[in-house]
Amino acid sequence: MATIGTDVQAAKSYLEQGDLVAIPTETVYGLAGNAYKPEAIAKIFEAKNRPAFDPLIVHTHSLAEVQKIVRDLPEKALILAERFWPGPLTLLLPKQPIIPDLATSGMDTVAVRIPQQPLTLELLRSIDFPLVAPSANPFGYVSPTTAQHVEDQLGQKIPYILDGGNCSVGIESTIVGFDGNDAIIHRLGGTSREKIESAIGRVKLMPNSSSNPKAPGMLKSHYSPGKKVVLGNIQEHLKNYADQSVGILAFDKAIPGVPTSNQIILAEDSNLATAAKNLFSALRIMDKMDVDVILAERVPEHGLGLAINDRLTRAAAK
Ligand code: TXA
Ligand code: MG
Repeated sequence: MATIGTDVQAAKSYLEQGDLVAIPTETVYGLAGNAYKPEAIAKIFEAKNRPAFDPLIVHTHSLAEVQKIVRDLPEKALILAERFWPGPLTLLLPKQPIIPDLATSGMDTVAVRIPQQPLTLELLRSIDFPLVAPSANPFGYVSPTTAQHVEDQLGQKIPYILDGGNCSVGIESTIVGFDGNDAIIHRLGGTSREKIESAIGRVKLMPNSSSNPKAPGMLKSHYSPGKKVVLGNIQEHLKNYADQSVGILAFDKAIPGVPTSNQIILAEDSNLATAAKNLFSALRIMDKMDVDVILAERVPEHGLGLAINDRLTRAAAK
């Protein structure tokens, strides 16, 4: 069992010893270690059972710190950094040698972000190294949005979980890379495509691929609970699963004819930010429910809805 608490000093001393600590961010909880120490990085891959080809995100607290670990900050990257940091945005930038190859899986770019979470920012300011932190879940499973989610799956493997309550965004950061003067979204996430385009103009979206070595988090099947998830029109699918016990993940209204105890409504207020915030908790609750299959519907396809539908699609791909 890990200790769960709000003691930044305790988190700091574990990290300084080379141990791992789970940290809250506005997106999801991260499994953090010293980004300059290959031994700490290796512990992260081991604890998550994460393949070594899947690189990690480096977290810092200021643009000045980012400058220490990247070789170059293209103009569009600087605009995005100034507009959206701290916040749910990760930038892929050419790395300095101080970042171990293990963190970037041998790639020449490093993923960096400044998270917007008061306890974690306080922690990052108090230490003299950045933190590498993937989402704090076993590889391939749903990301954690509470300290208890982390405890449930990784509590045996780490000494401390810094408790920042429920994550306010609830879905991972948007990842943006650069190719010459072009910006490319590698993963949809907590900063919408529209917001990014309002800052730097048209961006490309990395094509969806199950073997995309540039962003392994875009693997076709990812973020998936243990149970079967079927995505699409719930009324249609109910016919196909008439003889099974079904759980329903609905956007903003309950589905008639199914017991409400078997349904989770992501956003009673029809707000996509609310749906994003509730998505991963809902998948975990459904996973524990006594149902055979989870029927989920797509949310409106704009703003954060693109990232939510992306996660639902991957959760349904098995
Ligand atoms: O919101 C988030 O981004 C959370 C919180 C903890 O910050 N972190 C997170 O990390 O989602 P993780 O490891 O679960 O996902 C990071 C993604 C992976 O898909 C990885 O392949 C991609 O970032 N990535 C990391 N470095 C990369 C690089 N140099 N080039 C391309 N993709 C990279
Ligand atoms: Mg992850």
